[in-house]
Amino acid sequence: MDAGELLIGQIINFSGNPFLEGPHAAHHDASGGLVIQNGRISAVGSAEDLRRDFPRAKVTDFGNDLILPGFIDAHVHYPQTAIIASWGKRLIDWLNTYTFPEEMRFSDPEYSAEVARCFFDLSLSHGTTTVASFCTIHPESVNAFFAEAKRRNLCAVGGKTCMDRNAPDGLRDNVQSAYDDSKRLLERWHGDDRLIYAITPRFSPTSTREQLEALGALWSEYPECPMQTHLSEQTDEVAWVAELFPEARDYLDTYEAAGLLGAGGLYGHAIHLADRERQRLLEAGGALVHCPTSNTFIGSGLFDMDGLTREDQIVGLATDTGGGSSFSMLRTMAAAYEVAQLRGRPLHPSELIWLATAGSARALRLGDRIGDLKPGYDADLVVMDLASTPAIAQRAARAKDIWEALFPTIMMGDDRAIRDVRVLGQTALC
Ligand code: GUN
Ligand code: ZN
Repeated sequence: MDAGELLIGQIINFSGNPFLEGPHAAHHDASGGLVIQNGRISAVGSAEDLRRDFPRAKVTDFGNDLILPGFIDAHVHYPQTAIIASWGKRLIDWLNTYTFPEEMRFSDPEYSAEVARCFFDLSLSHGTTTVASFCTIHPESVNAFFAEAKRRNLCAVGGKTCMDRNAPDGLRDNVQSAYDDSKRLLERWHGDDRLIYAITPRFSPTSTREQLEALGALWSEYPECPMQTHLSEQTDEVAWVAELFPEARDYLDTYEAAGLLGAGGLYGHAIHLADRERQRLLEAGGALVHCPTSNTFIGSGLFDMDGLTREDQIVGLATDTGGGSSFSMLRTMAAAYEVAQLRGRPLHPSELIWLATAGSARALRLGDRIGDLKPGYDADLVVMDLASTPAIAQRAARAKDIWEALFPTIMMGDDRAIRDVRVLGQTALC
C-alpha cells in the first residue's frame, strides 16, 4: 500500500453549488490538508487529524498557500496558441484573418506536436489541469493533442473540428470525411488513459446541414462522448446563421434539428439567446460555456451569468484561447467578475472558484472525478500563493477572511501565483 503524501495548507472544497446555496456551499480550512495515494485523493480534513491518521505519509507543508482542485478550462482552441492577442477584428474577420491561416498549418504533424507541447506547458503553468479543446480539421492535430496530453497523464477532452463550407481551401472536410475521421479518432483515443473524445462541429456557419446531421448521427452512436461547438457569440453571426438556415427557428435549432442538442453538449459563448433556446438548453441538459476574456476581446457581448444560473442552467468557464486573451483561469475569473458587474451582479469569490473547478467539471460531465477535493477524486491540484506580487500581498494582508484574502489573487493574479500543480498527485510543472 502506498503510504501516500500528505499535503498541508489552506484548502477549499464544495458541498454544493454556491450559485444555488450561497457561499456556505464552499468550505474553507485554514490549516487543512489532503492525502494522495496512488494518484487519488484518499482523505481530506484538518492537518492535525490527517497527521495523526496517516503517520507514514510523506508530508509536504505549503504553509498559508491555498490548495484547490486544478482549474478546468471548458473551451479552448489549442491550435490558436500562437495567435493569441491578435489585434483589431471581430469574430468573422478574426477567423478569416488570423485563425484560419494559422489552423492551416496543422496538416503538419510536427508543427501540431510543437504547438501542443507549448500549449500544455502554458496551461499547466497557469494551474489548469484539464482542458476541452478544439483541434483543427486535420487528424494530425488531434493525434498531437492527445499524444501530448497522454504523455503528461492529463484528463483532456479534444476533437477534430469539422467544417465543410465557408472556410478556405485546405481547411474544409466534407460530410463523409468529417464522419469517418471523427469516428476513427474517437475509436483511437476515447477512453485511452484519461482521454475523452468530443465530437466537434465548429459552428453552424461552417457546416452544411448534412454535415451537422452526420455528426448528430455519430453522437447518437457514442452518447457517452461530449459534443462541443459554438452558439450565439456575436449578433452578426446569429444573423448569418438565420440566412444560412432559413428553416431554423433560431441558432440552437440548427443543432437541435441535426441531433446535436443534448446532455454532454458543450455550447461555447451562448450570449445572445432567445427564450426558446434557454428553455430547450435547460430541458436537454446542454452546458453553456462562458468565455469572458474572449467575449470582451472580440467584442461579443455580456453573458447573462445571473439569469442563467438562477435557471440552474449548467455553466462552465473557459479561456477560449486564442479568441480569449489569457491562458490563466485566474484572469478568466476576473473577467467573469467584471462582465457580471456590467450586468449588475457581483459574483462571489466562491462562485468564481466553483465555476473554474466543480462547475466546469460538471459541464464536462466529469464532476464525479475532478474539480473538487474529495476522497476518491483524481489528485489534480493547484497550489496558490495568495501574496504572489507586492500589489496582491499588501491587499491580502488586510483580509478578514479567506474570501477577502483570495479575491485579490483572482483579480490581479497570474502564473506567478501558481506554486505547484499536481496531475494524479505528481508535480506537473516543468
Ligand atoms: N466561432 C467559430 N470558431 C470560433 C473560434 O475559433 N473562436 C471563437 N471565439 N469563436 C468561434
Ligand atoms: Zn471557441
